[in-house]
This record gives sequence, structure tokens and C-alpha cells, in this order.
Amino acid sequence: MTFSRAIKIAPSILSADFANFGAECEAIEAQGCDWVHVDVMDGHFVPNLTFGPATCAAIRKHIKGVMDVHLMIAPVDPYIDAFAQAGADVLTAHLEAGPHIHRTLQAIRAHGIKAGLALNPATGLDSLPYLLDMVDLVCVMTVNPGFGGQKFIHSQVDKVRALRAMIGDRPIHIEIDGGVTPETAPLVAAAGADVLVAGSGVFKGGSVANPAPYGANIQAIRAAAEAARQV
Ligand code: DX5
Ligand code: ZN
Repeated sequence: MTFSRAIKIAPSILSADFANFGAECEAIEAQGCDWVHVDVMDGHFVPNLTFGPATCAAIRKHIKGVMDVHLMIAPVDPYIDAFAQAGADVLTAHLEAGPHIHRTLQAIRAHGIKAGLALNPATGLDSLPYLLDMVDLVCVMTVNPGFGGQKFIHSQVDKVRALRAMIGDRPIHIEIDGGVTPETAPLVAAAGADVLVAGSGVFKGGSVANPAPYGANIQAIRAAAEAARQV
């Protein structure tokens, strides 16, 4: 993975057909996405359940590019080895998931993969100066984690702008997760985000049998974000 601040679209398979993950991953890559975003939920840290490392390992075979795994679980540390072995390229843990995020990030990087730090909407940037040298990605949640299809929380745009200033020249991605559409993507792209996760915004209107809408949705979000970067 070479570092770039170019806009990357990362469809969340939370909005895909759960009985057809392999084909869904192949379809979104064929339709032009950059990364594949995989949401792991435990019914404890967030009020929803999805799947674990075995599913990640199974879908890895159907993803040519970056597998971006978002852990919404607590505790995190006992499962890091399993998700790294499942083939995650980026493994993201929540700051709120436990008292030892510093150790968690170290443990992720020890596997030679990228370490991500996710922040819930109510979490500030106070800890960031102490973590900037250990993260490869900061994920700003623009919804409360747990479900796809929620409304974008506009107060997070200022957080993205402040985070971008804090990061300076460091090779750290800023990822946005939740409520990303062609209407909201420009706001966060202009504020400095480069990875845009979109679940319902990408998968709406399409299917494995009819994947063209995935491509149109990806392109609409990308075009809106790139245009905002240029002003
Ligand atoms: C929410 C997940 C998101 C979610 C985004 O907890 O982390 O990745 O799938 O879905 P949309 O784009 O529909 O808000
Ligand atoms: Zn996510």
C-alpha cells in the first residue's frame, strides 16, 4: 500500500447481500471502488452483530485490493491476531473500546499491517498528539456506529478540519464513515478527508445481477468529493 491523499471510495459491505459477500466484493471492485470496508460488530460495543475473522478470511479471497477492517468490538486485543491472519490490510479499533488503545495500535502494527484509530461522534481529538506516531489512519465516525443508512452528523466536519491540521505532513489517512453521499462527501473532502466509506450510498439500486448502479454511485461520490478538493 503506497500512501496517497487522493480520494478513495470504500464501499461498506454492511449494505451488501450477506449471502453473497464474495460476488459483492468482486462486483464493487469491478465497478471501480478503491478499498473494501468490512464492518465487524459484536452486539456489545455496538448494538448490532455482524461476523468475525472467519468471514473476513473467506471474503479476502474475493478482494484484489485493500481490505479495510473496522472493528466495532470490545475488547479488541484478544482478536487482533485472528483479524491480521484473516488478511486485513488496515485494521481499525475504536478509541472508546478500552483503556489501552496505545497498546492495541502497537499490537496491530506488530503484524506489519496498517493501524487505524476510530473516533465516535462525541469523542474529541485530545488524545491524538500522543497517538499520531502510531496510526496510519484515523476514522472519523459521522454516524453513531452500529447501523448503515443513518444520517450524516454535520458537527464532525470541524473535527475533520482540525484533524487534518494536526496531521500535517504525516502519512496518515483520514477516513469518513457514515452517511456519505454525493451531498455530504464534498464537505469532508474539502475539510481534508481522503477515504470515504459508503454503504447504502454505494449499494442502493444495484445487485450482483445488476451491478452498474454500484459504479454510478461510486462515481457520483468520487466526482463530488474531487470537485470539492479543487476549490
Ligand atoms: C456503521 C458502519 C459503517 C456503515 C456505513 O457502524 O461502520 O461502515 O456501514 O453505512 P452508510 O454509508 O449507509 O452510513
Ligand atoms: Zn465502518
